[in-house]
Order: sequence, then structure tokens, then C-alpha cells
Amino acid sequence: MTGDGRLERLNGMLRRRGFLLPAFEIHGGAKGLYDFGPVGGRMRSRVNQRWLDHWLQLGNVVELSCPTVTPYGVLEASGHVGEFSDFMTECTTCGEASRADTLLEGHHANPDALKRDELQALLTAVNPTCPSCNDRAWTTITAQNLMFNTTIGAGDSGRAGFLRPETAQGMFTSFNALHRHFRERLPFGAMQVGKGYRNEIAPRQGMIRLREFNMAELEYFIDPEAELTDDLTPWDGRPMHLLSDMEEPAVMTLFEACKKELIRHPTVARFMGITHDFLVDVGIDPARIRFRQHEQDEMAHYAMDCWDAEIQGSYGWVECVGIAHRGCYDLESHEKATGKTLRARREFDEPRTTVIDGWTINGSTVGPTFKGLAGQVKTAVEALPKDTSFPCKITLGNDEVVEIGQEHVKPNQQTIKETGEWYIPHVIEPAFGIDRIIWHVIDHAYHETEKNGEHYTLMRLASCIAPVDYAVFPLFEKDGMGDLAWNLHQQLCGKPGIVSMYDASGSIGRRYARADEIGTPQCLTVDHQTLEDGTVTVRNRDTGEQVRIHPDTLLA
Ligand code: GLY
Repeated sequence: MTGDGRLERLNGMLRRRGFLLPAFEIHGGAKGLYDFGPVGGRMRSRVNQRWLDHWLQLGNVVELSCPTVTPYGVLEASGHVGEFSDFMTECTTCGEASRADTLLEGHHANPDALKRDELQALLTAVNPTCPSCNDRAWTTITAQNLMFNTTIGAGDSGRAGFLRPETAQGMFTSFNALHRHFRERLPFGAMQVGKGYRNEIAPRQGMIRLREFNMAELEYFIDPEAELTDDLTPWDGRPMHLLSDMEEPAVMTLFEACKKELIRHPTVARFMGITHDFLVDVGIDPARIRFRQHEQDEMAHYAMDCWDAEIQGSYGWVECVGIAHRGCYDLESHEKATGKTLRARREFDEPRTTVIDGWTINGSTVGPTFKGLAGQVKTAVEALPKDTSFPCKITLGNDEVVEIGQEHVKPNQQTIKETGEWYIPHVIEPAFGIDRIIWHVIDHAYHETEKNGEHYTLMRLASCIAPVDYAVFPLFEKDGMGDLAWNLHQQLCGKPGIVSMYDASGSIGRRYARADEIGTPQCLTVDHQTLEDGTVTVRNRDTGEQVRIHPDTLLA
């Protein structure tokens, strides 16, 4: 049974059974904040762990855990202070704020990609109705930064900060520690699961747009000049559904898409394949996965290219993963802001000889004059051409302009032989929205049928992420069956990683139904025969088949 009312019934079940609940409800709740409840909490942990295990298989990635509270300077350097905004308009009748692009969905193929002027013109032309009061009167569009502000420390010594909008920045600022850890050999990656925060203008569609959400991101550092050796053979013969920014939707393998240069970097292609495998592993229907490339105007400020994994569900096609080529944007920005180097070294096949005929600093005058900036002054002076006349103004790496006099410089003529060079690594980033993925896993697993004339719901969750592994029932809580069942339940709980649920309430049929509704793969029932020979029945969730086994086979 599908269709009308399915989404409402599904949401009702998720709430009733403790998967997902509006947070702080007894205080009136808050839009865009959800609890993973007594059942959902475990499922979230399992999806997170599965994600970590999946990417650890690369063999050259480590897990980090960085603070969610982030100093202003970090997110200023990353471009989030200046760029991380959505366009907002408010209804002048009821005051409700809306995202301008959302109001214009259906009036443009991709309103998210429009510039402010274009969006304003479309808003004026369409004059959509307010989703809250149905009037049609809008304020001029403004850019609204999406970060939550906070203060780090108290009183006058408090520093401005934000709750992180992505986990990525902590991994970029840890680059030198990662570089040391990996013995200075690229490629390598750092990954992290944790909370991200975005003060969305108008959160909607339940788990799809949250203000505090679960992210899982991998930052994979590569040498942009290294020979590309990404192996795409695991996805040979497996066509993917691709919507590139250049072509009509196509079904082709990742290898073919790279060959046609629809996917412009083989590591991006490999990570698309790995992403596809992860999504299918946790239970997403492969027929409802597609990859869509961002249009140039749609990309985040840091990205050179980006492919989203979109999943089709009750809310249409929804972006759940972004696989972005961030180039050297982030490391370079943090270098510029801090004056610290975030680089790796590549060795040349043959030493290279360079003749230098230019300028360098006079240490005895530059040190006292420019103090902490002396290093940056040296770099800038050494980049000046031979015919520079002094005094002259130069711009340092942090954009500060300083005046350099003749007394600060001396000629620099030398021939140097170099065996290698320092460069800023590029980053490929798969970033997963865990809440959206969990929502779609549930949406795809949720089945409605009829049983004995009654509405029956069943969640066909993958065993690896089901919140409960076993439900243990005594047929009756008498003649020792209750004690035996409880004992079996406790033994199962004692096995690392196993979750068992004991249920002795109501008829056995009701108990199977409750276990099916939360996707429990196997139910174990202790009955009269158990008292005689120690065996229990195992019932398979999806087939309903029952067999007798000795519980020792599960406990070994
Ligand atoms: N780091 C990817 C994102 O913020 O969506």
C-alpha cells in the first residue's frame, strides 16, 4: 500500500516508536531540531560507524575529532563569514522569513543557482504566495549568513566564534599534524563524524533541512601533479545514473564518464563509486540513487567541481552527499590568514637548477622594522623582478600593504639546485548528510501491507544498521519461560556490538508486529519446547519463516 497519507503514517510511526522526535517538545519545540529517540539513537550510531568503517578501508585515512565551537578567524579565513549565506525575503503581512529560492521552485529549473538580482527579478515577477499566510507581499531579498554566532570566553576577554557549519575546517587546520602522521606522503585523508550547525532561514521537510545536523566528511589531500592511479575497476559494468552540467542525463559507468570528461577527476569518480556502495550497503535502493553535477553558479564558494549523490524518496530527489573538488582553496586561505605554511613536498625526478637574479631582504633592517611580518616580507621581496626600484609598496600574503625602502633590500644573485619543491595540496571531499541518509534508509525500508485484514507495517532495514538485532520473547511468562528468555536476552546483550530487546507484553503476534515495525531482523521465541530441549524459534522478519535453533549458535 502506497500513496496518500503514507508520509504522515511513516512520520507518525517514527515518532511513536522512538526513531525521530521533535526536540524539546515539552517546551514547545524548536524548528529544525530533532532527537534521535530510544530506537533512532542506536541506528544513528550504527550508520556513523558503518560510514567510518567503509572509508577506513582506503587504508590511508584517519579519524579526527575537532571542536564544534570555532574561532571567528578560522571561518573568516575559510570564506564562511563572507560567503556562507542564503537569500531571504520576509512576508510583510505575517513576518515569516522564507528562502527566496525555495519560494520560486517550479518557476525556474534551479533557483538555487541564481544571483541576487536574478532572484529578485524572478520573485517580483512571480510574486508567490506566503506559505504561512497565503498573502503575496515580500521584502527586498537580503543575504542571510547561516552560521550560529557564539562567544568563546567571558567578559572583555571573550572572543567571537561560531558553531561550525562543516566539520572540514578542523581537518584543514590540522594538516601539518596529519602530514607528519602519514610520514609526509600523499595522498592521505582525515575524516570525522559529528555535528554541524546552520541557522536555516526556514527549516522544513523534517529531517531534510535541520539547524543542527549529523555530518560525516572526509578530506582527502592529493598532489595535483601526481600521476592519477585511481582504480575504477570495482565499478566496471555497473552503470550509474549521472546528470552532468554538460550533457543530458546519462547512464554510464564511472570509467566512461571520466573518459568523456564529464567527471573531471578520477578521485572524484572513485569516491562517487565508494559513496554508491556505502548508500546501498546501509539500505538505499540503488534504483533511487543518482549523481548530479553542480552548475558553475551553484557551487559552494570553495569548490571547483562538485557531484551530489541524490536519493529519491517521499520528498522527491534530495541531495544527501556532496563530493567536491575543493582544489587548494582551504589550505591556501588558512596559510594566507595565519602566515603558517600548510604544504607538502614533491621531489623532482632530476635536480633542477635555477638562476636567481633579483632581491632579498636585508635582515638587519627588515627584522626590526617589520617584526612578525619579516618572513612574509622576505617571500614578497624575493618575488620582485630585478628592475624594481625602491621605495615601493608590496602586498603581503595576508593582503597587508607595506612600503619597502632601499635599506631593506640587497641584490640576490645565485644559482640554486633544487631536488624538489613545496606545494599546497588539493582536497577532494566527500561530505555526507547522515540525517538525510537515515531518513531515506527508513523511507526505502518502510513497507505497508495488510495482515489478517489489518494494516501492517514492516521495516526492511539492512541488518548492519538495524537498531535492534534480536527481539527475545517468552511465549508466556510462566513455567520458567520468562526467566529463560530474559537470560538469553542478557547473554545476547553481553556480546559486543549486539543489541537485544526483551518483550513480554501482549500477544506474540503483537510482539512480532512491534519488532517488524522497527526493523528487527530476527525474533527469538522461548516456548514449551525450549524447556525440553533448549532450542528456540528464530523468525525471519522478511519471510516470516521460523526455524528452531539452539541459542548457543548465536552466542558462540
Ligand atoms: N563540507 C561540505 C559542506 O559543508 O556541505
